[in-house]
Amino acid sequence: MKQVILTGDRPTGRLHVGHYVGSLKERVALQNTGLYDEIYIMIADAQALTDNAEHPEKVRQNILQVALDYLACGIDPSKSTILIQSMIPELTELTFYYMNLVTVSRLQRNPTVKAEIQMRRFEASIPVGFFCYPISQAADITAFRATAVPVGEDQMPMLEQCREIVHKFNMTYGETLTDPQIVLPQNQACLRLPGIDGKAKMSKSLGNCIYLSDEPDVIKSKVMSMFTDPNHLRVEDPGKVEGNPVFIYLDAFCRPEHFAAFLPEYENLDALKAHYSRGGLGDVKVKRFLNEVLQAELQPIRERRKEWEQRLPDVYEILKAGSMAARQTAAKTLRDVRHAMQIDYFSDEMVNR
Ligand code: TRP
Repeated sequence: MKQVILTGDRPTGRLHVGHYVGSLKERVALQNTGLYDEIYIMIADAQALTDNAEHPEKVRQNILQVALDYLACGIDPSKSTILIQSMIPELTELTFYYMNLVTVSRLQRNPTVKAEIQMRRFEASIPVGFFCYPISQAADITAFRATAVPVGEDQMPMLEQCREIVHKFNMTYGETLTDPQIVLPQNQACLRLPGIDGKAKMSKSLGNCIYLSDEPDVIKSKVMSMFTDPNHLRVEDPGKVEGNPVFIYLDAFCRPEHFAAFLPEYENLDALKAHYSRGGLGDVKVKRFLNEVLQAELQPIRERRKEWEQRLPDVYEILKAGSMAARQTAAKTLRDVRHAMQIDYFSDEMVNR
């Protein structure tokens, strides 16, 4: 079987380090293994519109920001197809057919939808489109016959819902759609990077993000303002490492060579953690180290982003060519779907069916 990756992001803002460790880094690594026959990276503008209907200009502007972040992180357009969701109208048609295979109560039970409804204070005024976005996401994944979907942990319920749709479709209309697997980062700390304020999620609306495109001084001031163990008041106090955002970030980003380069008095992260737990290690020192680590990781990304910013016509060309190529793939799946559903009226002899 062909190995196919599909994944994507909503263009509602620039991407941040949570996106990076949670999924982007993994995508680039998978891309560079050479083990995949096709890789599709989707800028999910139609999905972004499900809760930004009044702000199409915001979605439009952020398509470019997300594309720049992709290219900056090492998504290589010669290996991966970057596409804009709304340029593939076949996805909308698939969504409409899949809607018949999902109940309202099943959507209401989707934990991600539930949490987002709460966060956006939608209560009873949820746009129907927003409520149905898990179905549209199933269309995204199945249209490309994805076998692997590298995403953040928060997308797990979306994948489960997608697989249910695949099974129901195949049972009802015959084996047609491909069953996808979720690919999560191995590193626990990368699964859900907290915000710099220690809140469970890094999110633009909470204002607690470090962006991939932040300038060095901005990164530094964000790191120095990060929450740590609230009971670690004096340097001598024993500190808590678990749940401490600064250490979670170090778990996510720090590699042994960072100690040799920036903090040679410790052998590794375990040694640093042991000292912090024992007492005698101040937050400022740990934050300074984290700042060095982040600067080292983000500098090449920021520089590559700036190079692409000088080549915007090329970026648009990549999006256009990617969207056109992707449309071909989706159209083929839609043909298979229509055939399975027996609604391919004029493409075969109607009389024989
Ligand atoms: N829901 C994803 C997010 O919020 C974006 C997305 C849209 C996606 N379609 C997808 C992710 C298909 C993976 C596969 O970031």
